[in-house]
Amino acid sequence: DAADSSSVRRLSEWDAAELQTLVDGYGSPLYVLDLERVRQNYRRLAAAFPDADVLYAVKANALGDVLAALHEEGAGLECASAGEVKRALEAGASGSEVHYTAVNPPARDLDWVVDAWDEHPELTITAGSEDTIDRLADRGYDGRLCLRVNPGIGAGHHEKVQTGAAAKFGVPAERAVDVLADAAGRGFDVVGIHSHVGSGVSSDQLDDHREFVARMGDLARKVSHVVGDLEFVDVGGGFGVPYREDEEPLDLASVAAATRDALGEVDARLAIEPGRYFVADAGVLLTDVNTVKTARDTTVVGVDAGMTTLIRPAMYDAYHPIRNLTADTAADERETVPQTVAGPICESGDVFCADRELPTTERGDVLAIGNAGAYGYEMANQYNSRPRPASIVLEDGDARLARRRETVDDVTRVERETHSVSETAS
Ligand code: LLP
Repeated sequence: DAADSSSVRRLSEWDAAELQTLVDGYGSPLYVLDLERVRQNYRRLAAAFPDADVLYAVKANALGDVLAALHEEGAGLECASAGEVKRALEAGASGSEVHYTAVNPPARDLDWVVDAWDEHPELTITAGSEDTIDRLADRGYDGRLCLRVNPGIGAGHHEKVQTGAAAKFGVPAERAVDVLADAAGRGFDVVGIHSHVGSGVSSDQLDDHREFVARMGDLARKVSHVVGDLEFVDVGGGFGVPYREDEEPLDLASVAAATRDALGEVDARLAIEPGRYFVADAGVLLTDVNTVKTARDTTVVGVDAGMTTLIRPAMYDAYHPIRNLTADTAADERETVPQTVAGPICESGDVFCADRELPTTERGDVLAIGNAGAYGYEMANQYNSRPRPASIVLEDGDARLARRRETVDDVTRVERETHSVSETAS
């Protein structure tokens, strides 16, 4: 599969009976992640970019098993917070394999990461503003520094994830040389420049990708004249994956060729840091149907997962494929009718799809929601005081519980602990 430069695992390819057994054993809702697919996705991408440093953007799925598997495959880990750096180090990454991308970093994060730097002097911090550089200097940091630049061009599946032109990210490219020269003068070890165009970039946005990378190449050449050679030019992640059944996967060979071509001659390594690409199609979310209701204009299918479990449809109007596992393993074929699949949260936006043609649903059926491996559990929350679901990983033909289901007791735990601490204190 690694030799193939484009591949997708569709929701229809998952084994319905096996998934059904997992829900029977571990309950619903349930996240399932196939680590073998994660590894395949990594190998295919690494093969398409043979001379690049490949990092994994931890934010897409920070489960310890995922980090350990990708690290074992050879990925570095790009981290967005102190918590992610902690996870990366716990998964076995060495300092040199960890990049911390600081976006308006809270003081607590900087304190934590600079502390960790003591023990891991090879870690890299990517700063996106002069203030961040000052705040690092204030803490005595003079280690490996990369500068996040804002090239003024964005792309991605939704305006909320087009980072390349969003003012909050990076130093405007036209000021980058001065900022880096200043940092080098202050004793920082300037190692790279970084930018991220956005997330979910599809093949029809390849021109934007090219323009974005070309601007990074131009900047790298300017920086090397003024500040000296860089170790790497990191052009971020953003590799899109198909969510709709009829969408074709990216051809990585042509993305890689376009990237190289647009970057031009630079005396530095190319670095990339995809998240979604490695994990999206490796994961499904399973959910029980508890209600089937004839509403005025549609049939509503009530399930126990909601926008607190998988927020992407509510937040970005994202499409996720949905499959009725029970109908697929039943003896008789069911008629298809338009249905609205909705969760238990008290918001009208808590729907996974509206009026989608699906096989007639019955109470007690199990639905699988596809492409849930990226930005699924990571964005789950406890709104409505709802516990988060369990996560299962599949590896070597076995299924194991990677993270238990939260209980209602977990939902109130921090408050209870707070009260017992203050009672002890008083
Ligand atoms: N590098 C940086 C600095 C990033 O901010 C991101 C994603 C990535 C890499 C990885 O991007 P990817 O390869 O996964 O597209 N929650 C949204 C996606 C937000 C992405 C934020 N940054 C979603 O569910 O679509």
